[in-house]
Amino acid sequence: MTWKTAAIAAVLMGALAHDTAAAEAPAAFRQCAACHSPASGAPGIGPSLARVYGSKAGSRPGYNYSAKMVQSGLTWDDPTLARFLSDPKGTVPGSKMAFAGLKRPEDVLAIVAYLKTLR
Ligand code: HEC
Repeated sequence: MTWKTAAIAAVLMGALAHDTAAAEAPAAFRQCAACHSPASGAPGIGPSLARVYGSKAGSRPGYNYSAKMVQSGLTWDDPTLARFLSDPKGTVPGSKMAFAGLKRPEDVLAIVAYLKTLR
């Protein structure tokens, strides 16, 4: 391999690695990070948000949810997450997520897009 092909290969591998890594957290996620880890593993005050997208509400392993969250019957798809993150208490009354909700629609969109990348 010449230095040129080696350099091209390195650039391509960098691009691929970048595509498969979780996206960088949007600024608004700082509000969530006080209680949630984006990595799988030990929960904080709230459950880990790894693989939460597409899952059934209250189903992350190793976390002690409120009965209200488990019984909500929700599945975390785009519209359901958008509704919940804008109005947690109104969407799941009795949930123990002590967060008033995101006010700005662009923050909701950015966070939902980010949650999809957490594997
Ligand atoms: C003050 C702590 C706190 C903050 C801030 C917070 N959460 Fe939560 N979150 C929780 C708790 C606690 C639960 C579990 C609720 C229950 O069991 O009723 C939860 C549950 C969730 C769930 C449902 C998880 C599941 O497995 O069903 C999602 C999704 C979620 N939070 C996303 C977010 C996002 C995104 C943000 C930021 C916009 C955020 N949370 C901010 C504490 C918090």
